[in-house]
Amino acid sequence: MKRLLIAAFMLFIFGGRVIADEGMWLPLLLADKQADMQKNGMKITAEDIYSANKSSLKDAVVLFGRGCTGEFVSAEGLLLTNHHCGYGSIVRHSTVEHDYLTNGFWAKNKQEELPCAGMSVTLLVYMKDVTKEVLQGVGDNISEEEREKLIERNIAAIRKKATEGTHYEAVIKPFYYGNQYFMYVNEVFNDVRLVGAPPSNIGKFGGDTDNWMWPRHTGDFSMFRVYADKDNKPAGYSEDNVPYVPKRHLRINLKGAQEGDFTFVFGYPGTTKQFLTSDAVDFVQNMDDPIRIKLRTIRLDVYNRAMNESPAQRLRYASQVASVANGWKKWQGEVRGLKRLNAVDKKKAFERDFESWAADKEMYRNVLPMMRETYSAIRDLNLQYTYLSEAVLVSDLMHRAKQLSALVDYAKKGELDKANLEKTVTEGYAELQKHYSNDYANHRRVDKEIFIRTMSVFYNDYAKDKYAWLKDIVVKQYDNNPEAYFDEVYENSLLSNPAKAEKILKNFKAKQIKKLENDPAIELFANIWTQYAEKDRFTLATLDTKLDSLYRVYVDGIMKKDNKKEFYPDANLTLRVAYGNIKTYEPKDGIEYKAFSTIEGIMEKENPEIYDYVVEKKLKDLYLAKDYGPYANEKGEMPVAFIASNHTTGGNSGSPVLDANGDLIGINFDRNWEGTMSDVMYDPSQCRNISLDIRYCLFIIDKFAGAKHLVDEMTIVK
Ligand code: ARG
Ligand code: GLU
Repeated sequence: MKRLLIAAFMLFIFGGRVIADEGMWLPLLLADKQADMQKNGMKITAEDIYSANKSSLKDAVVLFGRGCTGEFVSAEGLLLTNHHCGYGSIVRHSTVEHDYLTNGFWAKNKQEELPCAGMSVTLLVYMKDVTKEVLQGVGDNISEEEREKLIERNIAAIRKKATEGTHYEAVIKPFYYGNQYFMYVNEVFNDVRLVGAPPSNIGKFGGDTDNWMWPRHTGDFSMFRVYADKDNKPAGYSEDNVPYVPKRHLRINLKGAQEGDFTFVFGYPGTTKQFLTSDAVDFVQNMDDPIRIKLRTIRLDVYNRAMNESPAQRLRYASQVASVANGWKKWQGEVRGLKRLNAVDKKKAFERDFESWAADKEMYRNVLPMMRETYSAIRDLNLQYTYLSEAVLVSDLMHRAKQLSALVDYAKKGELDKANLEKTVTEGYAELQKHYSNDYANHRRVDKEIFIRTMSVFYNDYAKDKYAWLKDIVVKQYDNNPEAYFDEVYENSLLSNPAKAEKILKNFKAKQIKKLENDPAIELFANIWTQYAEKDRFTLATLDTKLDSLYRVYVDGIMKKDNKKEFYPDANLTLRVAYGNIKTYEPKDGIEYKAFSTIEGIMEKENPEIYDYVVEKKLKDLYLAKDYGPYANEKGEMPVAFIASNHTTGGNSGSPVLDANGDLIGINFDRNWEGTMSDVMYDPSQCRNISLDIRYCLFIIDKFAGAKHLVDEMTIVK
């Protein structure tokens, strides 16, 4: 009874809205959320956050590269993002002699800033609901194919009209699986320069060991500057470019915030899948994630051993390992979280409910049965795709085999004439030669182990039942020992033997094509790939499209059924606002995690023997002298990171974390392990985003790196 009363009371205060904290809201529609945000402590308005007409916070937030967020913090285009977002650029500028990744980099003036070729920064000018225009002419009786074509044509026309005579670029994306469409009109800047990065033992302190975990002590930030032409417009790299003057840059709050305070994250979340059906969740939890985890465990084992052998090897594999390890660990959290939530059962219950509601509705009655059918048809194809991407296409050997097998294929089909075949192979050889000259003996060892071990898992867990020809070879010629077979493939391929490769590829003649075709690695690859390339991938794409259109109906039904609830669309790498509070959580019975971490934790974790936990002397000296300058908190401590209940996902990395006044208090860089299932199912008691405290960031720039001139560019509210 008491429970019921409480439930009734909760319903009374919260109405039918989404449970506090869940949701990634569209800036354009934020007026709908303003009252709730203000009730939670926000002191500004929705218009202060997003406005198409006057300067607003959105003018300070950018899509950094293709999958991170960044924010302007000075009137001279100075940009903050995560260290792991700047990682690729930092690695590209690093050599064993100038190892910025390990030692950090700080430009003392603008001349020293390093241009990052290929890096772009995308700034939203305005967004617009274009659902009506996109669906113009799309009637109820139109086929899916026609629908797609029509929409594509409409989108092209709308984009053209929106950008004609401007330097803008327009993107139109579907929301709720195509029940709605929004257009984003952007400015894209391509002259982006590296300004500063802390050494790895600050920017990646705790490494992959601490990744996805709280409490955290990573100084995960790096700094860039955006340059524009003399008219403040985007331009390709040029010495004549000048720092871009943003319409708005963020003010920085050095007072910090307290547990319970309102905070919001403004950035570009990449992908969430809140509407997945039980079949799909079951596949993620029990097939896809576990297979990926198993295969990546092997790769990480091999890479990590190699990286501990020499600094050159550490640099060589750093970027790749960071990304392999990141997914590997996230999925482990996701599986646990989904199990803990009984996500599959919850989804099933939800579906039963939906079906009884839909029973008398022509439009929605059949949608779930059809989805079930489609999921059972797509299951093996999805599985195949998982194995192709996590086992077959992970070694250098197979990547190169893929390239050559494609050439053989084109040549055989007559799509590539003799002369072009010879030219392409020879050109490819030049690249291969570079690869051989880069410490090939060590790399070959690493690559070979990865190849043999991942392919053996692929064989034992999947391929032996799928490919009779492969099983035949392994059983009959290799005494049922797949390792022995894959070992021989590696040893005998011309691709892993520089002398052989030179002989055949350097001055390749078309009549030698058999030498390629019969190469054991190329042949193996081609045999696995052909069925996928010629048939399976098309079936997969067709079924995916079918699922998408079924989701469109299903999600439309869900929203009609629960029409009092406020829905938010899944993340799709468009600008969103997530809000919540700085908040503790209980990962397990009897344990409560605090909301803030401090420099004390860095010293607790310090271990000169372990790469991830080395603390630089300079930082230690500052700690011992308690020399924190104006960056300490009210108790004289140096805060490092904090957690809050903002709903975020991959892509939110680097996002500004703002306080009630819209001032910067942190940089988002992670989520907690217990909460990574929020991409599929959110749990307000467990899901937290992890942010770098802006005070630690400024302390590192000023006190540690001696780059106070960068702090002086910023606007600090004291
Ligand atoms: N987990 C964070 C994210 O998803 C950080 C990843 C980079 N750090 C790492 N140790 N690999 O991007
Ligand atoms: N580190 C993630 C990123 O690169 C953010 C963490 C998350 O997935 O929430 O975007």
